[in-house]
Parts: sequence; C-alpha cells; structure tokens
Amino acid sequence: MTLLRLTLEVAADGVAAAEAACWALGVQGLCVRDAETGRRDGRAEVVAWLDGEADGEAVRAQIAARAPAATVRLEPEDATTWTATLPTEPLRVGPIVIAAPGVAVHDPAPVLRLEPGLAFGSGAHPTTALCIDRLMSLRPRRALDVGTGTGVLALVCVLRGAREVIAVDVDPGSRAAARRHAALNDAADRVRVVDALPPAEPGFDVVVANLYVGPLASLAAELVARVAPGGDLVLAGLGVDHAAAITARYADLGLGLAGRSDRDGWACLHLRRVDVDARPAHG
Ligand SMILES: C[S@@+](CC[C@H](N)C(=O)[O-])C[C@H]1O[C@@H](n2cnc3c(N)ncnc32)[C@H](O)[C@@H]1O
Repeated sequence: MTLLRLTLEVAADGVAAAEAACWALGVQGLCVRDAETGRRDGRAEVVAWLDGEADGEAVRAQIAARAPAATVRLEPEDATTWTATLPTEPLRVGPIVIAAPGVAVHDPAPVLRLEPGLAFGSGAHPTTALCIDRLMSLRPRRALDVGTGTGVLALVCVLRGAREVIAVDVDPGSRAAARRHAALNDAADRVRVVDALPPAEPGFDVVVANLYVGPLASLAAELVARVAPGGDLVLAGLGVDHAAAITARYADLGLGLAGRSDRDGWACLHLRRVDVDARPAHG
C-alpha cells in the first residue's frame, strides 16, 4: 500500500496555520517536529499522510491558500515501512506487555496482543505509554476511548475491569484494526467500535482521548459531557507547551487536574469531574 507523505516546513510561528491546512485536507492525524521535539533551528515541520491516489497539484493549491508561507514536499511512502518499524519483540510499556500474536512472552505482566499494522497505537509512542500508565491506576466500569487507533487503550480499560468500552475513531482502517484486536484479546463482547461519539450523556466513569491539541481543544465540551460525575478524563497528544492552556480550558468546564505526567515533550493530563453538588459546602 502506498501513501503520500505531506511535509510542510514553516517558521515556528507558522505551525498552527500548517496544521489547519492539513486538517482541512481531511488528514486523520499529523506529527509536528519543532523545538518541543528536538528541532533547534527555529523552523518546524508538520507531517501528515494522504491517500496514495491524492491529486498532488490540488493538494499544493489548497496548502498555498491556507498556509502560503509553507514549503511543501509530497513523497510517496510505502506503508509497509511503518509496519517494519514496529517492534517484533514483546514491548514492555509500564505495567503491561504488548506483543504480536504468536510471539512468546516471558514476563508475568498482563499481555495485550496487537498485530503490526497501519493504525496508530503500537504502544511505543510516548503519548500511548503515558495513557497506559494512567489507565492502569484506574478501575473503569464503563469507558469511552476517543481516537482508538489500534484499540490499545480500550483494551487496557478491559484489562482494568471495564465491562463495556465504546471505542471511537474517524478512520475506517483504525476501526477495522480495533475490532480485530478486540477479538484477538477475547474482548469483542466488551469493546464496541464506532465511527462517532455516542449520545452526550455523562455515562462513562473513564474517558480517554489521545488525539492532537486541536481536537482536544475543539472537542472539550463534547468529551466533558460524557464524563460521569466524579469520573476521570485522561487526555494525551498535546505537547508540554500546551498543557496549561488545555488544563484551563477543561477547568472552565468543571474538571480539576488530578495528575499530570510528561515524556519526551508530550504531556498527559488526568482530569476529574467535580460537580457543584459533590463539592464540600463552605462555611
Ligand atoms: C494519536 S492516535 C491514538 C491511537 C491510540 N488511542 C493510542 O493511544 O495509541 C489518534 C487517533 O485518533 C483518531 N482521530 C483523530 N481525530 C478524531 C476525532 N475527532 N474523533 C475520533 N477519532 C479521531 C485518528 O484516526 C487516530 O487513530
């Protein structure tokens, strides 16, 4: 399978426009390489992947309209190179092990089986690892995983005892991968994979969303509306520089910071819904 790798090189203050231009093209995810992730020349790259059949000229025209300062590179990329980068050895991620089917694991920790593939969420990425650490400290009963990718975080919720997990992803390939992985881990009866958020009811004692900073900000009210009173919301996919602003955004919606962990320039926020009625009375 061939993809088209789109790279927009911009000055550090041009990242937001470049990200917006990529989202407008309908990409399902992107990476930013900037000072936060080790680039030291004041420049940044926003990288996204398009369908291999995408019309390069039309893409360039749309980028020129939305992020005219960006230098654009379009390169075909063989999707199998992504697969090759996934670990073939069992991967210890905090308190759990992630291993491909059939790979022997000599570790008493709980094991999740994931097939190497295209969807995001092998466990190796710091944002996934940070979420796994947080979720392993919780005891979800009914969980919502927004941006499920491989389904890895939904499966961690099952490991922690969740009887029902709704796993949402806008990408059909990710949904297929998440369903495969739920079956592979004997959790098909507990993980329901869907393409949109369920109705806005505060029915989930744990909500986890490993997205990007843009969707985490724009979906804030939607996510909060689904967290049960006293419930937990775990957010990742934001850089440490965005952590204060995202914390403040969710505080405005009634969520308090229960914990934060950082790794390799990424932040993971653990928020808790504190409802007015549940707060101690003053005086
Ligand atoms: C960074 S990956 C996270 C995958 C996995 N949960 C993990 O932690 O490794 C983000 C996923 O969110 C999906 N996504 C992006 N925007 C979304 C949205 N608005 N609603 C649901 N899924 C979304 C992408 O398709 C992608 O699979």
